[in-house]
Amino acid sequence: MNNPKRYTVTTALPYANGPIHIGHLAGVYVPADIYVRYLRRKGMDVAFIGGSDEHGIPITIRAKKEGTTPQAIVDRYHSLIKETMKRLGISYDHYSRTSNPIHHKNSADFFLNLYNKGKFTEEVSEQFYDPEAKEFLADRYIIGECPVCHFMNAYGDQCENCGSTLSPAELINPHSALSGSTPILKETKNWYLPLNEYEDFLKEWILEDHKDDWKPNVYGQVKSWIDDGLKPRAMTRDLNWGVKVPLPDAEGKVLYVWFDAPIGYISATQEWAQEVGKDWKPYWQDEDTKLVHFIGKDNIVFHCIIFPCMLRAHGDYILPDNVPANEFMNLENDKISTSRNWAVWAHEYLDDFPGQQDVLRYVLAANLPENKDNNFTWKDFQTKNNSELVGILGNFINRVMVLSHKYYDGKVPEKTVEFDELNQLKDFAKNIGAYLEKYEFRNALHEYMNLARLGNQFLQIQEPWKKQHKPEEVKGIMYAAVQIAGMLAQLSEPFLPFTAEKLNKMFNMELKDWNELENISEILPAGHKLNEAELIFSKIEDETIDAQIQKLQNTKTKNQMTNPNAEAQRDEISFDDFTKIDMRTGTILEAEKVENADKLIKMKVDTGLDVRTIVSGIAQSFTTEELIGKQVTVLVNLAPRKIKGIVSQGMLLLADKEDGKLTFVVPEEKTSNGQGIR
Ligand code: MF3
Ligand code: ZN
Repeated sequence: MNNPKRYTVTTALPYANGPIHIGHLAGVYVPADIYVRYLRRKGMDVAFIGGSDEHGIPITIRAKKEGTTPQAIVDRYHSLIKETMKRLGISYDHYSRTSNPIHHKNSADFFLNLYNKGKFTEEVSEQFYDPEAKEFLADRYIIGECPVCHFMNAYGDQCENCGSTLSPAELINPHSALSGSTPILKETKNWYLPLNEYEDFLKEWILEDHKDDWKPNVYGQVKSWIDDGLKPRAMTRDLNWGVKVPLPDAEGKVLYVWFDAPIGYISATQEWAQEVGKDWKPYWQDEDTKLVHFIGKDNIVFHCIIFPCMLRAHGDYILPDNVPANEFMNLENDKISTSRNWAVWAHEYLDDFPGQQDVLRYVLAANLPENKDNNFTWKDFQTKNNSELVGILGNFINRVMVLSHKYYDGKVPEKTVEFDELNQLKDFAKNIGAYLEKYEFRNALHEYMNLARLGNQFLQIQEPWKKQHKPEEVKGIMYAAVQIAGMLAQLSEPFLPFTAEKLNKMFNMELKDWNELENISEILPAGHKLNEAELIFSKIEDETIDAQIQKLQNTKTKNQMTNPNAEAQRDEISFDDFTKIDMRTGTILEAEKVENADKLIKMKVDTGLDVRTIVSGIAQSFTTEELIGKQVTVLVNLAPRKIKGIVSQGMLLLADKEDGKLTFVVPEEKTSNGQGIR
């Protein structure tokens, strides 16, 4: 779209079922923020909208796993995500959440609008149902044996052990995650949007009109969906977490999460407009508004097919002008996974690298998975920081600052020489802008760094520090160097907003309109006073990187454990160490609670060698009555220890259970007291 009057820029609403990681940042939030910051500098009217997606199965699953309510989960993660975005400088105009009442009303109204226009079809289908819990079951809630690898805890949609995509009917011995009962098929009525009826619209709107301006990865995915033939898709679900279906005969049904969530963009825009005293409507209904959705590739079908069909069916809304979806970012050559904890969590990064928000923004922007999946490694992170941010950008800025203070007491000298570089400055602003408008963020950042490279080369060639130069020449060189540095400060802001702030303070200037930057060769006039230099980037040492790699290594080790909750293995012992341990079977003869100690029980135990006193912390797992007569294993050659004034002559062997209680470790068959354990 040429010359839009305003922009509405949205970012996929992350599920509030976990923190955000570098995959989210690279896929969606960093490029969107760069884009919006640039637009604002161009003087555009922009609404930058985000929020948390608080409905859907991922939320209820997480709640169940943690033994809490969905509301508690979304409250926790919404706050964490919102805070993390802010700490990273993602400059939303408004960050909302889909549990807000205004959003429930909006999405219910949207649904009714389509319903009243007859846009839905009603279909009765058979769905899995838990007869005990009396609830329909999402695929994720059905657990059973994987037909491929025979893992016992595969989900109805996927086996996490072998990665196979499954349907609940394929599981061996399926059972409900809610009650354990066997699911039955039960008929239920839902409302469907007949996507097949929108094929002509989609073909014309995307396949023809956006043939040239949508990214090939997005266009290709949409085309293959359409070529495969679209089918009606249920817009309601039998579930009790979400926006209630606003119809009388829809008890126990909510809107499909992918119906309500994108309407969340509109709800958030309304909240924002109300706050700042604007009219929200033009941002969603005026043909001169450019609507752009930033998303990851797994969201393409929803933003390019389903949501546009909803908007079209409604009729009052504009369609997205572009959906610059990214592919995925991997981590150390492995797919990022929340459930396997294989991620660099944004809030942990911020804690581990205080003041280094821009380093992460830079490394992610330089590696954006724009056209194919890409990979984040800590080594590359270190290299990009040390050799590019410190070595190229920081180095140039620092040299300019130091020399200006040394030669001219921080005052910009006069322009005494006409250098070509001065005329090139505006081209950098233009080129970077052109790349950003085409959503080519990596190219834009690369072009930005080329300006820093140019600065270093300029100093290298001109060598202002050389004795042969006349003072007038040095002035000219330094004037030009200061202009390059000034332009670098100006252009840094969309990519490196925290650094931009520091640079502007150092250069004692304000951010300029980008249009102005595209037309000037002087950023800082002669006589302008620079402030003191500040450190903008610093070297990241091997130890820092090794600690992060070790953290991931620990996750990997945990993931390979058959029971990830088990304690880590202790230090190795020798065979001789082992043979020193003398264990015998024994029998408890007497047991009584130790006074003033709620965990301790004092026992008389027949070890075959003698009858001795043993004190053990087992009162929370056994009553004294049930202990008497029990066969046990006794570590007999442990040095006696005084516990609460009683001398304990040995130790009983016990195993931990999942419920936190203990159980005795004993020979499988009864043997006589005093038999050795080897
Ligand atoms: N919560 C979804 C995800 O994480 C994205 C929702 S985007 C919206 O994949 F458009 F539906 F809001
Ligand atoms: Zn499997």
